[in-house]
Amino acid sequence: MFISTRRLRRCQSLQILTTCFVMSLMLMWVQDDNDVVNHIKSYSYRYLINTYDFVNDSLSIRRDKSDALNYNYLISNKYKCQNENVLLLLFVKTSPENRRRRDAIRRTWGNEDYIRSQYDANIKVMFALGVEKDPAKRSVLQQQLESENKIYKDLVQQDFLDTFYNLTLKFILQFGWANTYCPNAKFIMTADDDVFVHTPNLVSYLKELDQIGVQDFWIGRVHRGSPPVRNKNSKYYVPYEMYQWSSYPDYTAGAAYVVSQDVAAKVYEASLTLNTSLYIDDVFMGICANKVGVVPQRHTFFSGEGKAPYHQCIYGKMMTSHGHLDDLHYLWKQTTDPKVKELISGFWGSAYCRLVNMMLLCRIRYKDTYPCSAAWS
Ligand SMILES: *[C@@H]1O[C@H](CO)[C@@H](O)[C@H](O)[C@H]1NC(C)=O
Ligand SMILES: *[C@@H]1O[C@H](CO)[C@@H](O)[C@H](O)[C@H]1NC(C)=O
Ligand SMILES: *[C@@H]1O[C@H](CO)[C@@H](O)[C@H](O)[C@H]1NC(C)=O
Repeated sequence: MFISTRRLRRCQSLQILTTCFVMSLMLMWVQDDNDVVNHIKSYSYRYLINTYDFVNDSLSIRRDKSDALNYNYLISNKYKCQNENVLLLLFVKTSPENRRRRDAIRRTWGNEDYIRSQYDANIKVMFALGVEKDPAKRSVLQQQLESENKIYKDLVQQDFLDTFYNLTLKFILQFGWANTYCPNAKFIMTADDDVFVHTPNLVSYLKELDQIGVQDFWIGRVHRGSPPVRNKNSKYYVPYEMYQWSSYPDYTAGAAYVVSQDVAAKVYEASLTLNTSLYIDDVFMGICANKVGVVPQRHTFFSGEGKAPYHQCIYGKMMTSHGHLDDLHYLWKQTTDPKVKELISGFWGSAYCRLVNMMLLCRIRYKDTYPCSAAWS
């Protein structure tokens, strides 16, 4: 395509002007810490982001392979994947006391047998956890976990304390296990234990991708250029000493994302060379991926932190939705009802659903679920 050099130059100077303008705004607001400012900041950073080298020596550590984060497995289930053709290894990040959540997932979207029989796909659902943080409850809970694992054989546990600030250790646990004991899985997913995953939709999607042999694949709800929280009262506070840059590399919301096997392997290797004190696990993943040159893609039906609207037209396409506890059974029944598929297919069905989804997703008062553009996909 032909573009005149004059126009190009005009474009460039416009870009530079805009950048300067945005940067001066940033300087004015550097002390503030509200959402709007953060947004403006993050959008201006997106401009600069390509010039960033996120990972320099300040994040790297020298660590011998031998003393790489030596947390021992208390429960490993290391034969779970052996000699099997696994389409998807799905880790659920859970905590010792969340037995009810695990049971609900096993009976609904995490039901491997159902997916095998209905969708002819081999998935493995594993629950990743550490050790109970409260010493008073620890030994009782540990015994309960052992007996739970005797029944289901789906826990993976290492001996670090299961706390929010140890989420990065849990991340490494998952990617380490995947690489060591399940290197034949085509895709690896990680999800919170209060997420609903529409496994039938997801598995159909991944089967198609597998057929074309997709690589370098990382998908979810992408956070682009989001700045570190420097407010000490926040749960996500990150001091300057821990992370010096003014934005994170692009990453997918930790609530649920999927990577292909090659990405899981590269990211795991990178994780061994980085300082794990950065405890926000999805950001840490972003840094690992940045180091090995993998970028995330957005899927409009991964919800991130948001909860999907309840509607048949949404169920036809949804992949994940966040914040579900007591409604898992209801949602599972609704989303897998064959009548739903029937209702929303065909010309009139999809026209109707496009309209409904626009009404549901394109409201002014934007709630953080699927973006408006999802209605067109
Ligand atoms: C890494 O980059 C940060 C931010 O650009 C900079 O402040 C720091 O000095 C760098 N550290 C090293 C060791 O290069
Ligand atoms: C993380 O786990 C380790 C090992 O159990 C423990 O020593 C440490 O205190 C934990 N960190 C936090 C912040 O909970
Ligand atoms: C990791 O980073 C923290 C600061 O966030 C620092 O105190 C610690 O020394 C670093 N660890 C290594 C091994 O470099």
